[in-house]
Amino acid sequence: MENIFFELKNIHIQFLDKDILSIPHLTVHQFDRIGIVGKNGAGKSTLVKLIAGELHPRQGNVTVHTDFYYFEQTNLALSDQDIDVALQHKLHAVDPHSGGELTRQKLAQAFSHYYEALLLDEPTTHLDKEGIRFLQDQLRYYYGALLLISHDRLLLDEVVTTIWEVDDGKITVYSGNYSDYEAQKELEKQQQQEAYEKYNKEKAHLEKAAADKMKKAEKITQANNMSKKETRAKANRMFETKSKGTSQKAVHRAAKAIEKRIEQLEPVEQVKKAVPIQFHQAKTLELYNRFPIMMQNLTLTQHEKTLLKQARLHIGLHDKIALTGPNGSGKSTLLQAILLGHESIEISPKVKIGFFTQLAYEKLPDETVWHFLKSRSDYSDPFIRSVLHHMQFEHTGLQKQLSALSGGERIRLLLASFS
Ligand SMILES: Nc1ncnc2c1ncn2[C@@H]1O[C@H](COP(=O)(O)OP(=O)(O)OP(=O)(O)O)[C@@H](O)[C@H]1O
Ligand SMILES: [Mg+2]
Repeated sequence: MENIFFELKNIHIQFLDKDILSIPHLTVHQFDRIGIVGKNGAGKSTLVKLIAGELHPRQGNVTVHTDFYYFEQTNLALSDQDIDVALQHKLHAVDPHSGGELTRQKLAQAFSHYYEALLLDEPTTHLDKEGIRFLQDQLRYYYGALLLISHDRLLLDEVVTTIWEVDDGKITVYSGNYSDYEAQKELEKQQQQEAYEKYNKEKAHLEKAAADKMKKAEKITQANNMSKKETRAKANRMFETKSKGTSQKAVHRAAKAIEKRIEQLEPVEQVKKAVPIQFHQAKTLELYNRFPIMMQNLTLTQHEKTLLKQARLHIGLHDKIALTGPNGSGKSTLLQAILLGHESIEISPKVKIGFFTQLAYEKLPDETVWHFLKSRSDYSDPFIRSVLHHMQFEHTGLQKQLSALSGGERIRLLLASFS
């Protein structure tokens, strides 16, 4: 029997009266390779924080029987564990500045020493292709217990053999990699849809039958009333009236029985559809300039390294541009230059720039979600509330401190602040 490395028992976690996690029993064994998936804010990081001992449950307990490395999602600062200098060099992670370089530095630390367990929370967020490949290779040949939170399905497919799905406070275990999990989910969805249709059909059928019976009972009552009147005239129809009374009761009983059957039907919920995020865009001033941003002769350097040399680049109206390149090649620096209005960049005066910085979500000010947006816009309260609603912040979410938000929620909030 493989050793148990982590064990969770009777855990209940609540934040602001909302149930986040409820775990009767869950274990991680020596050779487990687990991918943790779920929506933003589902509780994935909370689960791993619990296991890593960063969060102590008020109810239930967690036992740890191993040493491990914990890669945190929203904090790229290094922990005080040792770091192998050769590996650091291999990963170009000496003197790191960019998000990708900081991540590489942390990965160098994670693989500098053999840990029996690795808890990795979204390690690929800032990595370029080469960085992801490095991580993939390391994990492929890693033989300790692996807990990996990731939205990168290819990585999950490569390195895990079990999926833990966090949804609605519960954890469901699926064996296989991400594709197996997806196939299983698709099947579940189909089965639920079929069961839902069957339930609806049966319910409608029974409801109709009950209504028919009721109608029949009604008819008998009417006929009865009629015949009562007639009875006064013709005293010899007593027998018939009596028999009608009895059959009316029988029909009534039958209708009631059908209603009972409807109540006993096991209700099946419809398959929940994911609500897409809508960017609530205010009507900005119309731009007429065909090239609102133009760069001539743009040279960018950073720490004595030339990142761009006399570049000539134009950003056209309605352009949607992806900026790609290895970690540390200067992508963020270029965006910074546009934002700060570098002397070689001409920006049409009407341009309004929304800016999302790579590491902005790591260190957020100490305020609530509501205050954050309110203090950064001139919009009315109802408008701000509607923007937040579109970004899937529920009512209680507004009073939350920014530091409490999950990684994905932070990004949603920063995006909402551009509206
Ligand atoms: N200290 C806290 N106070 C209040 N709410 C909190 C606190 N910590 C976490 N939460 C909330 O608990 C929920 C789960 O957070 P968690 O970070 O575990 O989500 P996640 O599944 O990792 O999401 P993501 O994919 O965005 O990283 C979120 O709604 C978050 O805002
Ligand atoms: Mg998270």
